[in-house]
Amino acid sequence: MFEKPEELKKIFDEKAKAAEDTGAVEQLRIEFLGKKGFIQGLMQELRNIPNEKKKEAGQKINETKQFIEEQIARRLEELKKAEERKLIEATESYDESMPVNVDLGSYHPITLVRCELESIFLSMGFAVEDYSEITDDYNCFEALNIPKHHPARDMQDTYYLSTNQLLKTHTSAAQNTILRKYKSNLESGNPIRAIFPGRCFRNEKIDACHENTFFQMEGIMVDKDISISNLIYFMKTMLSEVFQKDITVRLRPGFFPFVEPGFELDIQCLICGGEGCSSCKDSGWLELCPCGMIHPNVLTAAGIDPEQYTGFAFGLGLTRLAMMKYEVGDIRVFNSGNLKSLSQFTDKSFFDPDSIKEA
Ligand code: FA5
Repeated sequence: MFEKPEELKKIFDEKAKAAEDTGAVEQLRIEFLGKKGFIQGLMQELRNIPNEKKKEAGQKINETKQFIEEQIARRLEELKKAEERKLIEATESYDESMPVNVDLGSYHPITLVRCELESIFLSMGFAVEDYSEITDDYNCFEALNIPKHHPARDMQDTYYLSTNQLLKTHTSAAQNTILRKYKSNLESGNPIRAIFPGRCFRNEKIDACHENTFFQMEGIMVDKDISISNLIYFMKTMLSEVFQKDITVRLRPGFFPFVEPGFELDIQCLICGGEGCSSCKDSGWLELCPCGMIHPNVLTAAGIDPEQYTGFAFGLGLTRLAMMKYEVGDIRVFNSGNLKSLSQFTDKSFFDPDSIKEA
């Protein structure tokens, strides 16, 4: 046992310098400050010291104890910083000659079809617009000729927010904003042509072809003398470009308050070839792209004179289009986050770092 606290301090100092990691410092703490440690030993020896010297001896032991505690805390801080430095150096240095061996990721299949459609419509002179997911009653319904209490609202079970806003139920909610944005085109003798893809939300009963969160892509064209023939031309061009093969579609009358006349454009189910399956609810057909001639009230609400101008609008079901294009039988796959399913559609050579170097 050490007789003098001063001697103990020196010994501690030497040992602390040699302690090279936090584990070794912890050992020191036990050795010096633990229940059976040196400080405790000195305390017990106080019993053998004459009473008149006890106070001074006790003070010295306490000073030494405090010194050791402070030194341990300081050494631990030093070691922590050194460890952090080491980590930073290790991450900052990298070896250029190391082979690339990382998973380079992939695009979501809905992103892939969206990009494809955007480039098709851009090549036909359409602008691509973005619109928020949160909107209000006016834009989602009233500006689209769907007044309050109109039964057409029942077709879209809406998520209302406590702020008097709502989650957009269809991309048509952007029509009024986009028509206003581009109406000066008409004054200068140019058409309005825009597409606006986006995420939509409805309180739906989910099944193989219905989700509560899904994507649509709206398109509008307004000018003098726009007719149903223009609408059919653009629908045909879009579908033949996307599928690059013969597909069977049908056009039938459909009711939407914001178009007149209105149509439902259905695609023959590519999962079952029209035989009937869960993806098409046994009908052999999938509703894909309702469309029609923009209702005069909708043009008026955007400040466009329906006597002078006409236009068409369509609301393509982008998620359903991805189902058909990639022959995915169940819409729920798209929101599943299952990378094994979702990553198989991207052409990975696009991400190949060697091809980037060569380019
Ligand atoms: C509409 O949303 C209209 N706004 C479309 C429109 C635009 C009509 C412009 C006329 C002019 P509908 O509710 O039918 O219509 O939805 C359009 C498409 O979105 C459907 O054909 C379907 O392909 C897709 N869709 C609708 N609900 C869902 C859902 N719950 N899950 C997945 N796709 C859906």
